[in-house]
Amino acid sequence: MKIENIILVGFMGTGKTSVGKRLAKHLGWEFLDTDLAIEEISEMSVSEIFRRHGETRFRSEETVLVRRLQGQKKMVIATGGGTPLNSENWKVLTQMGMTIALYAPIDVILERIGNKNDRPLLKAGRDEDERLLQVRQPIYNQAELIIDTTELTIDEVVDEILRKVEGRIEEGRIEDETTD
Ligand code: S3P
Repeated sequence: MKIENIILVGFMGTGKTSVGKRLAKHLGWEFLDTDLAIEEISEMSVSEIFRRHGETRFRSEETVLVRRLQGQKKMVIATGGGTPLNSENWKVLTQMGMTIALYAPIDVILERIGNKNDRPLLKAGRDEDERLLQVRQPIYNQAELIIDTTELTIDEVVDEILRKVEGRIEEGRIEDETTD
């Protein structure tokens, strides 16, 4: 069966946005990052939404956005780390296309994220962050494909995805260049 969209899920810092952007470029598809889309719609950063209105408001923005994506085609969608936890979101996303989970262990994630301070749910300290990852991973693992990104560059993750979807992409336009 042809793949109509590709949906990237996984914990914060696993590379969904970077991989998604490059993958979309390779396929000639549109790229959408749910966090960025919510920031644009609400004219506030994710941190600001959390701070001013709370997580519940952010989660409802996520659900509204996911609902609006239904029916879209030829999109690579990078979801926020919490998006697939909502069963309605998960149902819509899995119906839209192929779900791919990106995985990395917590220490790799924290190293990749470095000092960036734009993730309100990742400030609790290493052990708390690891617990959150452990609680969520079984949900991410329901994706059709799981890629352990620990030892991989962004391009290697993209290549692996391209190999897996080969022949199943609607009128895909595979490009050779890997530049952003
Ligand atoms: C969240 C992940 C973030 C963002 C928000 C909440 C989460 O997205 O949606 O801070 O609950 O895991 P990224 O996974 O893109 O960092």
